[in-house]
Amino acid sequence: MLCQLVDANAPDTSVLKQAGEVIRRGGLVAFPTETVYGLGADALNDEAVARVYKAKGRPADNPLIWHVNNVTELEKITRLSAETSSVVEQLAKAFWPGPLTLVLNRKDEINGIARKTGTNETIAVRIPSHPVARALISASGCIIAAPSANVSGKPSPTQAAHVLEDFSASNDIEMVLDGGATQNGLESTVLDLHQEGKITLLRPGAITLEMLKNVVGEVSVIAGGTESVEIEGAPLSPGMKYRHYAPKAPLFLITGYPETAIAQEICKRAKTSQKAGILATTQTLHIYDNLPESNIFVLGNRKKPENMAQDLFSCLRNFDALGVEIIFVEGVDEDGIGTAIMNRLRKAAVEVIKV
Ligand code: TXA
Ligand code: MG
Repeated sequence: MLCQLVDANAPDTSVLKQAGEVIRRGGLVAFPTETVYGLGADALNDEAVARVYKAKGRPADNPLIWHVNNVTELEKITRLSAETSSVVEQLAKAFWPGPLTLVLNRKDEINGIARKTGTNETIAVRIPSHPVARALISASGCIIAAPSANVSGKPSPTQAAHVLEDFSASNDIEMVLDGGATQNGLESTVLDLHQEGKITLLRPGAITLEMLKNVVGEVSVIAGGTESVEIEGAPLSPGMKYRHYAPKAPLFLITGYPETAIAQEICKRAKTSQKAGILATTQTLHIYDNLPESNIFVLGNRKKPENMAQDLFSCLRNFDALGVEIIFVEGVDEDGIGTAIMNRLRKAAVEVIKV
């Protein structure tokens, strides 16, 4: 596996040409996006896509996101009614390129394994803004199918080092483009538009529910932070039914109000636990003063949830590296990007405890 440093804002043309060549001949390239690192393959090459599934250990019924550079490319692979087309146009104007994925009806001929859902005729598409992601799509001349570049179930990678951590023993990835830490830190918002006249949020992200409602009006919510991971029957988004984002040690998410009560509860539990790791916030750090043996990290300032989102996965991975045996994480307010943070934490948790 070749790890190549690239300038995130002005990626080197010759490196990108080489990476594009790898994709074109069916190889896998890990690359930065504005959300998390993706593990990219030519979406129309079933052998290449199969290697992505194998490398990640990803369940075969969980489809991948297709990355394109503009709406014209999107229209080549999707079948849009006049109404949906106008919604896509409004969303594109407001949020693309950027961290938004749309689930749309696919064209009949777009039928590779990257889109296999077993349940419907849809495809998830996104137009990323990260210059390296965009340059890779252009250089390859392909549509790039890319899940997050982590082993299935682990926290998504927000740095190239995380990708190397997960795949150093694997021969499946030919190249990693290291463009530094990603900006959002959480995966894209996934919005389902495949049913005429119905807009459903499947995965919260940096494009928040409030932002979406401002553009398209009514949006139903499936995967809001308060929703259970298990959906009755077939999940709308196959990724919803699996435990995700999880570090090795069992993670306990403590929620409630006020935040000092959360921290006090964690203190109580950590005192009776071996090698506890604690994810605190600026506002509560002083409460942990009497816990010398714990590994206490500050996720960030509750007043700056964007920064907490950016660092969340890297903090969770850090606990793995430290070998902690139990993890306590403070819940945050579930509005704006906080909804996405809590969505990931609920899926990573073995138990959510309300104080
Ligand atoms: O920010 C992101 O979205 C990153 C970067 C690399 O673009 N990618 C990412 O991919 O997070 P992944 O595979 O980790 O998550 C894709 C999510 C899964 O929950 C999957 O079930 C859902 O999108 N998905 C994909 N195709 C779908 C479809 N046709 N219908 C419903 N959900 C779909
Ligand atoms: Mg993922």
